[in-house]
Amino acid sequence: TVVGAGNVGATCAHWIAARELADVVLVDIVEGMPQGKALDLMQARPIFGFNVEVVGANDYEATRDSQITIITSGIPRKPGMSREDLIATNQNIVAQVTRQVVEKSPDTIIIVVANPLDAMCYVAYKVSGFSPRRVMGMAGILDTARFKCFIAMELGVAVEEIQAMVLGGHGDEMVPLVSCSNVSGVPLADLLPPPVIAALVERTRKGGGEIVSLLKTGSAFYAPAAAAVQMSEAILKDQKRLAPVSAYLTGEYGLEDIFFGVPVILGAGGIETIMTLQLTQEERAMLSKSADAVTKTRDLLKM
Ligand code: LAC
Repeated sequence: TVVGAGNVGATCAHWIAARELADVVLVDIVEGMPQGKALDLMQARPIFGFNVEVVGANDYEATRDSQITIITSGIPRKPGMSREDLIATNQNIVAQVTRQVVEKSPDTIIIVVANPLDAMCYVAYKVSGFSPRRVMGMAGILDTARFKCFIAMELGVAVEEIQAMVLGGHGDEMVPLVSCSNVSGVPLADLLPPPVIAALVERTRKGGGEIVSLLKTGSAFYAPAAAAVQMSEAILKDQKRLAPVSAYLTGEYGLEDIFFGVPVILGAGGIETIMTLQLTQEERAMLSKSADAVTKTRDLLKM
């Protein structure tokens, strides 16, 4: 199930179908829109030759017994807005959606994409009553992809050569881990001078905002959808991928009762393990600042 047939939701459906990962139910409250986009995708099947079903719906009946539910519904930000400015509107939407999703698919795994991301994961977790292993947020893979993309562009090398990791909240305090970044095993610090690395880190942290200020009427969707689809694939195929996602913490990294971007192993059970990394003192300080921001936003939920 993909809830929200806007740019992120429709792009998720597009890539899930094109990669033949699963049948897709695209749900949206706007009448005709999810049905129209689903039918349009179905008509692309003979051209690219993918054989999955995509259906659109305005209610949750067709979503029954979904293995995975991606929640993209909610409003995106406009120029000048922070992700946190979306909280009141999106809290209500995510809570309502979660209730309906869980009623039809009590065994589903929920991937939240709505912003402010870590807080919206908290809403879905609380409302669903699910084990925290089955509720997670898409952010770290997107933020990491942005960091990798900027490193590859700076060095003029293929993106596949880049290893990197971005942890923390999905906000401007996120923490790109330079200590975990390398190009085919060569540490980033050996390839680029510190001011250049610092600029790449800063561009990554503001990566979502850069797109918002270019688009003017909404936020990024191709890379966010790609990241949510990669998470779905890891779960559907039980791949045991190690990737950063927003996960519920119960003491890991000294943090409790918040969703926060940390490295996990993703498999059929959802979040199968939360990995604890050895971080530098500077990275720990940055993470703690990011956690303070996420905690403040969580408190606004009053849940
Ligand atoms: C971004 C939004 C989707 O980072 O949070 O682009």
